[in-house]
Amino acid sequence: MTEHRSSHDAAHDPRNDDILIWVNGRLVPKDQAVVSVYDSGFMMGDGIWEGLRLYNGRWAFLDLHVERLFEGAKAIDLEIGMSADQIVAALEETARANGMTGDAHARLMVTRGPKVRPFQDPRLSRSGPTMVIIMEHSVPVDRMAKGIRLATVPNVRGMPMAQDPKLNSHSKLNCILACIAAQKAGADEALMLDPQGFVSTTNGCNFFIVRKGEVWTSNGDYCMNGITRQAVIDLCHENGITCREKNFSLVETYSADEAFLTGTFGAQTPVAEIDGRRIGDGGAGPVTRRLRDLYKAKVGA
Ligand SMILES: Cc1ncc(COP(=O)(O)O)c(C=O)c1O
Repeated sequence: MTEHRSSHDAAHDPRNDDILIWVNGRLVPKDQAVVSVYDSGFMMGDGIWEGLRLYNGRWAFLDLHVERLFEGAKAIDLEIGMSADQIVAALEETARANGMTGDAHARLMVTRGPKVRPFQDPRLSRSGPTMVIIMEHSVPVDRMAKGIRLATVPNVRGMPMAQDPKLNSHSKLNCILACIAAQKAGADEALMLDPQGFVSTTNGCNFFIVRKGEVWTSNGDYCMNGITRQAVIDLCHENGITCREKNFSLVETYSADEAFLTGTFGAQTPVAEIDGRRIGDGGAGPVTRRLRDLYKAKVGA
């Protein structure tokens, strides 16, 4: 059987069996942390979320995550009912309650809340939003020697006037269908194209290639405005590495010297293979390693 790999694999940590989850202001044991079956997030995918990472007592890019959360909330016309400071306080309370000071990952979710009847109309959510913070002990599996295998899929990134790919919505069905298609093709995750056929991003991370020492990523029009993506672009500029945000195709991708993914969870994850074409030696190449070291220094990992 082929070995399963994921950009979001973490070492098993039994402490996660007994964590406390923040649910609407209360810290609740994991096995009792529930939301209503009428919740708009459960029923419709009507909500937004952020993934945040705690390194040595500091949440990486905390302000940017909170800003993106509020931007998403405004876009879907959802009133969070808490200030940015209150949200940060809830994160800190959850970390404290779980004794977490580093190597932790949080998924902070806000939905439109319970509906009075099981139908789509957002006005049926009348009792305020539901907010949940799941925070886990989390050490990503080291993928530096053996990267992720990608397959391109028929599911493309949407136009912004359909479901804007910059919206970190609860509904991730387009990405999930892409991931399923990639796994059916024997890969781990999906490489997704934009509506013109240029390489855009993966189902759960942003995507970069390295060619002749230059770092390339999509022009950003159809992918999540990843905070890690921007951090890598900035690190390139600050450290004399040419970085281009541009259209490029699969032909240029298959022959890349290196390819890697970016995301809050895994930071930089090397790509081993794309559509059966080996990339480099299947692990992290020198530019990926350099950027990862620079990134780790920046977030204090
Ligand atoms: C589709 C998608 N792409 C990329 C990312 C990575 O974004 P970030 O670097 O902000 O974690 C995410 C994470 O939310 C995502 O859902």
